Amino acid sequence: MVLNAKNAALLVGVFQQASLVLIIRYSKTRSDKQVYLTSVAVWSAELLKIFLNLILEIIKKRNDSKASNKSINELAENEAKRGIENSNSNTINGIFNTLCTPESFKLILPAFLYVVQNNLLFFALSNLSVPVYQVTNQGKLLTTALISRILLKKKISSMQYVALAMLGGGVALVNLSEDYSSSSPSPLTSKQNGILGLIAVLISCFTSGFAGVYFELVLKGGTTVSVYLRNFHLAFWSLLLATGTIVCYDMAKVKEMGFFQGFDGVVVLVILFQALTGLVVSLMIHFADTILKGFAISVAVVVATVASVFIFDTKIGRLFYTGAAMVAVAIRLYSSNNSSNTK
Ligand code: C5P
Repeated sequence: MVLNAKNAALLVGVFQQASLVLIIRYSKTRSDKQVYLTSVAVWSAELLKIFLNLILEIIKKRNDSKASNKSINELAENEAKRGIENSNSNTINGIFNTLCTPESFKLILPAFLYVVQNNLLFFALSNLSVPVYQVTNQGKLLTTALISRILLKKKISSMQYVALAMLGGGVALVNLSEDYSSSSPSPLTSKQNGILGLIAVLISCFTSGFAGVYFELVLKGGTTVSVYLRNFHLAFWSLLLATGTIVCYDMAKVKEMGFFQGFDGVVVLVILFQALTGLVVSLMIHFADTILKGFAISVAVVVATVASVFIFDTKIGRLFYTGAAMVAVAIRLYSSNNSSNTK
């Protein structure tokens, strides 16, 4: 494997996602489990993303200016001339000013879709058993491919669709191998509505696919706005929406027990990794594409499961080996048909 930017981004994605899975697993299994507000955790991750991408954008601007021997102001002027960004986007103020440009408004839609997706998945999980959720949620691999075909005109051969279906099946088996051995699946209660749960997963498969592909379209769509500035815009709009979620759903709890109730070191670590996910996902989309990002996240599930055998003494059985083999075959099948994957 050649270590170019694309492969490096996918490799970092695999390890970052696998670490996230392990940290979330640890946070769920520890005995002194903290009860914190999910909406506040999501809000905090978006705030961190804003800071992270702001710093990276400033560093990038400084490096660009050094490389081209032009002052940062000259670069900003050039960008302003091309109508890409607000002038003076080199300063913190300038970067915040870019929020009121058409390029930034383009990201309101994916921000909204990601918020809808997060809420739908929460709803789905409370209405479906974990195994059903794990299997159906893999549908997003196929919806992403379909939407890539429609919006990005990406050519995907029928063998590649087969590979994606196999990938989804493999990841589902790997997930199931653990869910059955580490915890008994909770029976559905009369309050749960399986059909509504399935509809929620189905819609979230489309919002995930559409948001990812739309982000790719914006990222690669002609203008030279950096991936960090795109992330900054996306995180800003997401933060606004996340604030709305707290106000609408959790205001009473915040008033009663405080905004950061239940936060401790592990919760902060989970939030930090969630924020890094945004950056790593965007780099995978930037250097590879949304479909390959799905592959990297699937491989991460396999890596995390193997790691948890050593870290948490998790028992894995035949389902895991079958699933991991399916993931491996799917990768081979998809990449060997990759010549048709160009526009
Ligand atoms: O399930 P899916 O792969 O669609 O989830 C992607 C995740 O990556 C979402 O939680 C979204 O908030 C995050 N993301 C991000 N920044 C980007 C692209 C995606 O934070 N630029």
